[in-house]
Order: sequence, then structure tokens, then C-alpha cells
Amino acid sequence: MHELEVLIQAHYPLIYLLTPEEERAEQAIAAISQLRPPRKIFLWTVTHGIVEYGRPRTLTQHNTVSPEAAIEWVARQREPGIFIFKDLHAFIESAAVTRWLRDAIAGFKGMNKTIILMSPVQRIPVELEKDVVVVEFPLPDMTELDEVLNSHLKSNGNFTRNRRLSTEGREKLLKAALGLTKDEADKVYRKAEVVAGRLTEAEVEVVLSEKKQIIKRNGILEYLEVDDTIDSVGGLAELKRWLSQRADAFTERARQYGLPQPKGMLILGVPGCGKSLIAKTTARLWGLPLLRLDIGRVYDGSMVGRSEANLRNALRVAESISPVILFIDEVDKAFAGAGGSADSDGGTSMRIFGSFLTWMQEKTSPVFVMATANRVERLPSEFLRKGRFDEIFFVDLPNFDERKEIFRIHLGKRREDIARFDIESLAGACEGYSGAEIEQGLVAAMYDAFAQDREFTQFDILAALKSTLPLSRTATEQVTALREWARHRARPAAAMVAEYQRMEF
Ligand SMILES: Nc1ncnc2c1ncn2[C@@H]1O[C@H](COP(=O)(O)OP(=O)(O)OP(=O)(O)O)[C@@H](O)[C@H]1O
Ligand SMILES: [Mg+2]
Repeated sequence: MHELEVLIQAHYPLIYLLTPEEERAEQAIAAISQLRPPRKIFLWTVTHGIVEYGRPRTLTQHNTVSPEAAIEWVARQREPGIFIFKDLHAFIESAAVTRWLRDAIAGFKGMNKTIILMSPVQRIPVELEKDVVVVEFPLPDMTELDEVLNSHLKSNGNFTRNRRLSTEGREKLLKAALGLTKDEADKVYRKAEVVAGRLTEAEVEVVLSEKKQIIKRNGILEYLEVDDTIDSVGGLAELKRWLSQRADAFTERARQYGLPQPKGMLILGVPGCGKSLIAKTTARLWGLPLLRLDIGRVYDGSMVGRSEANLRNALRVAESISPVILFIDEVDKAFAGAGGSADSDGGTSMRIFGSFLTWMQEKTSPVFVMATANRVERLPSEFLRKGRFDEIFFVDLPNFDERKEIFRIHLGKRREDIARFDIESLAGACEGYSGAEIEQGLVAAMYDAFAQDREFTQFDILAALKSTLPLSRTATEQVTALREWARHRARPAAAMVAEYQRMEF
């Protein structure tokens, strides 16, 4: 039984129902209201005032367009009933509306009356917080989507053309639409049908690419296409090994073996050493889609509760696409406000952080969180607690062998004949340089030679490297502090720990 049903059955006086799907929610409430004892349903909108559900709108005679008048009318009713208010969230900040609501529900005792505030956003004034219970109306599940799909498969003579749809094909079409509202799913199936002239397993791609569009529109999640493979990351052997071992972690085979699903990893480290790069290539390695969650875009100060709703929505969509990798880059910046006691944004970042942690703790769907950070002191300590992530890795400046690999990778990307470079001496010349700095040096050398209309050489690279100061020298204290911190708390991503512990600047 769904939570909403329980609350209505229990005669809860005031329910805040979060959903963008008014019609579906109304139908669900109508189904519940027919249970024992049956209750009438009334709907309030700012355009029509109160009307009885299922009756023609013209029958309305109450003068209840204003929210206050509507609530007063509800309070006066002697009959049991369910009263759905659709647009009230736009008025809920008003002191009069809040007061009317509180007085109304205070008189509901023993009367089987329930007010449901239906809204796509959560907006609850403090005065009401104690009286209201918030329920999220779930998105359609496979069974409901199956109804939508069925109506398409059977409609106007498509039946024969679509008959080739196998059970697996059907399941794939349904899975592809998970995370969409009923209307969205309907549109997506229709579009696939129009594009291909049929709905078969081959149309899964169309459905998925439509879903990508819808995800793009919400602006918080982003699908990333990654061309690089894990071989384009130099060094970080331990981290790579860990990731390779888990390539099949989300398969049925792993479940049967008795393995738990990995939850996520946090990659800490010095800037420019490949944290974002390896996080992105993991999706290729594991054969999973990669979704980037931009926490910065979750924040929305326009309305109380808006940011939380944004985050919840995004996480729900991510779950619907699972198994998936959820990439949260530079998580230290995103949650910077949540650690300190200074409450600069009215506690929003604290609440967002809290909801995120709760979700991580409780999630059962295979969403693997891959977070990166380089300012550990800005991360709230709850984030680093054992058990939150499967592993916390520390990505340090590349050691000698790793620098050789990085040179080989980046030279190899740009030239065929890399044998003419003395990789050993190049790697030897840039101790303390990050992968990004090595790449920049290489590019600078290429520009120098290009300007002189000749091929670049070993010497150009050495000169370019020499003329730049790496971050490890300009911000020595920060880098040293980070290493000190990580030494005891995170697992090194590189294979050999010994060398960089000896390294000094
Ligand atoms: N280990 C590496 N192997 C190959 N290339 C690397 C490596 N580290 C860095 N690079 C190059 O530098 C670029 C920037 O690295 P990346 O964005 O992954 O660094 P980061 O650790 O996420 O840094 P930041 O903390 O600044 O976000 C990469 O796209 C890649 O071209
Ligand atoms: Mg990065």
C-alpha cells in the first residue's frame, strides 16, 4: 500500500502531495476514496474555485475562487470528504491562508476530512510544518508504463506491425521510459512510433535519446559522452585495479555470487592529476551510462524548499536510469557551506547536504556515486566517515614511472613516432608537475615550434616545462597539507607509495 493511501485511510487532516502529475495523482486519490467508507472528492483551482471531482465544472455554485473562501467552505462541510487544492502553493506564504488552514484542520477531528495540497514544488511555511505531512507521489512504475505502451501498441492498426515485439523487447522499452512521467512516456512512445513507423525493440534507442532530452531540460543532470578510455589515464595503478575488479559489480552474476552493490567512491587529490578524467573513464570501463550531477544548479533561492525538490528529482531520475554512474565533480565546492557553523544561506546547503547523505545511506538502486574533491578541509566530516563510500582514494602528484606513462599517453595522442623522445629524461625533468601541467608543457612546446614553422623536439618540451612553475611549488603548503591529511585517511591511488613519500620540494 502506498503511503498516500495509508494517510488518507488514517484520516490525516493535511497532506502535502508533491507531484508534477496532477491528473495521475487525482486518479490515484479517486481510487483510494472509493474504499470503505467512500468519500467525496472536491477540487480547488484558482480559476474555478471548488468543484466536485467527476462532475461537470458548470455545476459549481460556490463562490470559492479566493483561497480563504475555499478553505472556509471546506471547514463548514459536515460530510466526510477529500479536498484537493491545486494552486494553493502560490498563496501559502500569506498569513491569512496559513491561519485559515490551521483553524480548518483543527476542526476536522473525527470528521473524516482530509485536505490535500497538490503541488510540483515543496513550499511550506514554518507555521504549518508541524501540521502537514509531505508525501512524494511516485513516478509511474513498470506496470503503469506498460499500460501506456499497450495503448500505443494496440492503437490504430499498429497491432500487426508491432507484433514482433518480444517480451525482452517490451521490457527494454519500459525500462527506457522509467523516470518519466506518464505524459512524458506517452509522448516519447508516440515520437518513436512516428519516427520509425512502429514500436519494436529497435526503438529503445529513440526512447532513450528522447529521455536524454528531457533530462537535459531539467538542467541539473547531464549525460556525458566519454571518448577516453581508462588507458588514457597514466599511473594510478591501484585505483585502476580497484575499478577493473568491479567492472561486473552490477551484474546478476555478482548478485548470485553474494556480492553487495558498490555504493560509491570519493577521489581526493592534488589539482590536475586526473581525478575527473578517471571518474569519467570508469563509465566506459564498466559499460554504464554517465550522469553528471551539478550540485551548484540544485540551489534555487527563489522559493523555500525548491532546492531540496530539485535534488530529490535529480536523484530520482538517476535511480530510474540505473545502473548508472553518478558523477559529482568538485564536491568540496558544492557542499562548502555545509561544514561550517556560519549559516550564510539560511541553512540550505546544510539541508541539501543532509538529504544527499540520507539518500546515499538508504539507496538500494544501483547508482554508483563518483565524487571528486581537492579541498578536504572544506568537506563536512560526515562525508568522510567510514562506510559512506566504499573507498576514499588519494590521487597524488605522479611519481617518476607515472610521469613516463603520462608523457607516453599525451605524446602518443599527438604523434605517431614517439620513439624519438627520451621519455626518461622528460619524466626526470618534471618532478612535482601534475598530469595537467605536463600536458600543458607539451602543448606550449608545440606552439613554440609551430610558430617557427618546424616540428617540436625534446628540447622544446624541456624548455617549456622549465619556464612554468608547477602548483606544487607555488602552493607548496596547500599541497603538503593535503598529502599529510590524506596519508592517514585515504588509500593511495598509485601503486608505489614509497617514492612520493621520499619526495620533497
Ligand atoms: N594521470 C594522468 N594521465 C593522463 N593525463 C592526465 C593525468 N592527469 C591529468 N591529466 C591531463 O590533465 C587534464 C586535467 O586533469 P583532470 O581534470 O582529470 O584533473 P583533476 O584531478 O580533476 O583536477 P582538479 O582538481 O583541478 O579538478 C586531463 O584531462 C588530462 O588531459
Ligand atoms: Mg577535476
